[in-house]
Amino acid sequence: MKTNEEKIQLLYEVFSPSAPIENTELFIGRRTQIARVRDIIEERGHHGVIYGGRGVGKTSLANILSMIFENISIAKVTCNRTDNFVTIWQKALKKIRFVAQNQPVGFNTKPENSIIELYLPDVESPDASDVEAIFENIPDNILFIFDEFDSISDEETKIKMADTIKVLSDNNPHITIIIIGIADSVTKLIGEHPSLERCVRQIEMPLMNLEEIAEIIYNSLDILQLKAEADFISKTVEYASGFPHYVHLLCKFAAKRAISSNSPIITGEHLNVAIKYSIEDSNHSIKSSFAAAVKSARRQNQFQDVLFSCALSKVDSENSFGTSDILREYNRITKQNAERESIAYNLGMLCKEERGFILTKVGTAKKYRFRFTNPVMKAFVKLNIHNTIIG
Ligand SMILES: Nc1ncnc2c1ncn2[C@@H]1O[C@H](COP(=O)(O)OP(=O)(O)O)[C@@H](O)[C@H]1O
Ligand SMILES: [Mg+2]
Repeated sequence: MKTNEEKIQLLYEVFSPSAPIENTELFIGRRTQIARVRDIIEERGHHGVIYGGRGVGKTSLANILSMIFENISIAKVTCNRTDNFVTIWQKALKKIRFVAQNQPVGFNTKPENSIIELYLPDVESPDASDVEAIFENIPDNILFIFDEFDSISDEETKIKMADTIKVLSDNNPHITIIIIGIADSVTKLIGEHPSLERCVRQIEMPLMNLEEIAEIIYNSLDILQLKAEADFISKTVEYASGFPHYVHLLCKFAAKRAISSNSPIITGEHLNVAIKYSIEDSNHSIKSSFAAAVKSARRQNQFQDVLFSCALSKVDSENSFGTSDILREYNRITKQNAERESIAYNLGMLCKEERGFILTKVGTAKKYRFRFTNPVMKAFVKLNIHNTIIG
């Protein structure tokens, strides 16, 4: 049995709400995405783009790839705002080191090992063909991962990367490139390049499904030798709304509370406390957008009721909801029999700056629907619903 001190120490390793996963034991699900990366590596001349929303687990997947695929050298680079084509390749090449055996020159001399380092040539503006030339005499399979590619604003870099993918695909099929970033489509991330259609595979990183989210909880509690009430698990899964960040956050606070009160089981009481802390700990922009959306001088806060109804509404595959879905929830939670017109004003306002742009209208004028502008907001609103009812 672990002591409470040991459990608290482990807790910070097991629940990492703000850091990507770096340990295969803590990495849950994403089998489809891993299988697709395997195909990309195995099919010569193929490359990949992994795209999805913020916080869905893209970097965690990238970290885990180098532990799963052991027969290939992997260099992972995190791009930033100031990077360009040259700096990202410099960083990437620095991460690859080969040990080569030198041919002995004289009689009776033993072969010696030497380290081969890769460099971009010293030319004014290196381009795709310069990158290609580096790998001409390197037979090893190498996977280059460029994470946070969306943070690069330099258009020329995107064009040169697209050219590089094409050239490598034609001439150096043992080199694989995977580009990762926040985007809702591949084109948004790397631009439009018809010549890449055949050699670039798209991998979407969706929100995690309910089973994956629940598995994060079971797996972590197992390591911590803790149990949880079924109601704690189902509520945490529901509130997280597919975001692993919120599962880690809620479980961290709840488990900490349980351990420090010597409870071997996490209960609803612990969840109530965890929700308060998690709201407090949430990102500043989320909190201020929410505060703007629900501000009201009245006791009966209709903006809050409408926003809560949005978070509870049934969504389609694009995560959008219609006025009738919202109205159904609104009438349920306020115990009214209101018509569409009575919430239309609030819905319109929630799409405006003075209400924090919390919703975005999608679809055509005749058949528009709504979406949370920042998808994470849905989880934050659900925590507030719980807190309002309990608190
Ligand atoms: N497969 C996973 N299993 C368990 N936790 C995960 C998984 N993927 C992501 N997480 C957790 O979710 C949060 C966001 O993950 P991260 O990889 O940083 O997302 P992204 O790079 O898409 O913004 C982190 O707290 C991370 O620990
Ligand atoms: Mg990331």
